[in-house]
Amino acid sequence: MKILKLPGFIDIHVHLREPGGTHKENFETGTQAAIAGGYTTIIDMPNNSEPTITTQALEDKFELAKGRVYCDLGFHFGGTPASIEYFKEIYDRVYGLKVYMNHTTGNLLVDQEEDIELIFKSWPHFAKASRGKPAGKPILAHAESRTLEIAIRMAKKYNQRLHVCHMSLAEEVEMVKKAKNEGLNITCEVTPHHLFLNENDVERLGTYGLMKPPLGSKKDQDALWENINIIDVIGSDHAPHLKDEKNPTAGSGLNPPFGVPNLDTTLSLMITAVNDGRLTLDKAIDMCAIRPREIFNIPKQSDTFVEVEVGETWTIEAKNLKTKCGWSPFEGMSVSAKVRKTVLRGQEVYDGEKIIGEPTGLVI
Ligand code: NCD
Ligand code: ZN
Ligand code: ZN
Ligand code: ZN
Repeated sequence: MKILKLPGFIDIHVHLREPGGTHKENFETGTQAAIAGGYTTIIDMPNNSEPTITTQALEDKFELAKGRVYCDLGFHFGGTPASIEYFKEIYDRVYGLKVYMNHTTGNLLVDQEEDIELIFKSWPHFAKASRGKPAGKPILAHAESRTLEIAIRMAKKYNQRLHVCHMSLAEEVEMVKKAKNEGLNITCEVTPHHLFLNENDVERLGTYGLMKPPLGSKKDQDALWENINIIDVIGSDHAPHLKDEKNPTAGSGLNPPFGVPNLDTTLSLMITAVNDGRLTLDKAIDMCAIRPREIFNIPKQSDTFVEVEVGETWTIEAKNLKTKCGWSPFEGMSVSAKVRKTVLRGQEVYDGEKIIGEPTGLVI
């Protein structure tokens, strides 16, 4: 039996659905899924049904989460024209500003260029980087395809750090590459579903294969792998919706919501890719722990690590996952890596099957 000892993984893109969507996930179940998946720090997104776009809404999240999280949990703030007035107040308490420039779950869409511009102009930042430290906190953009051009242009104009969420298309890879080559302060993220699935899988998965951005073509998927060296971060975009809600024939006949769960399974998929020779272990650790910490200035955790067994074959089965939503787009997939133990600040919190003890995570 071969055991790898890895740093606790960091996921800077998760949707824990609290407040407002706790039937799908909550701070307890979401952070349990995290530690079972080898994550010890995660950062929650603001697109709740009660969105995180005021100081009060952010404080409510801190209050709600206190004493209930199994790994460390931080928050991003939502950028809208109406939330600009809170930027200075909340700046020190968040990791970044999320701007939704395309339609997705929630009602935070900002698709008018003058609104996007006002947000980029207003997010506090410092004109110069000091002592090699990045200047300011990143603006995270949900910007698909041509919309990404606007985000890049605004980041350049207002000297903001830009983090491109869930890059999925070959054309987006090219845009990011070009911006990086021009010296722009830009980082990018890819999800496990865009790495391990493509649009051909939608036939099999049906509505369970629908998320934003949608799965790309085989060519887009290949472009992500071919350019893995310019990808900074794996963000899981853990976006749980109940199995029934995703069922196209269920209930009200409304279109099923976009998004797939990921926290339980991402580490297994990434280390399986390492075992298959698709990337190095160093690069995987870089994208899943080191770069997320650097880019978002995430606090260090002492004596915190994950033990992963490699070599055997396991099958992903939703019934073994801790997420409350009860399904996985990777159901039935074979992996060659399994989390056997998660240790947070010297304490074993997951033993490969069960969550151990009371929640000891910090709201950071
Ligand atoms: C996310 C969600 O459900 O909150 N859905 C998704 O399809 N990715 C929102 C998002 O990240 O765009
Ligand atoms: Zn919608
Ligand atoms: Zn998004
Ligand atoms: Zn998301």
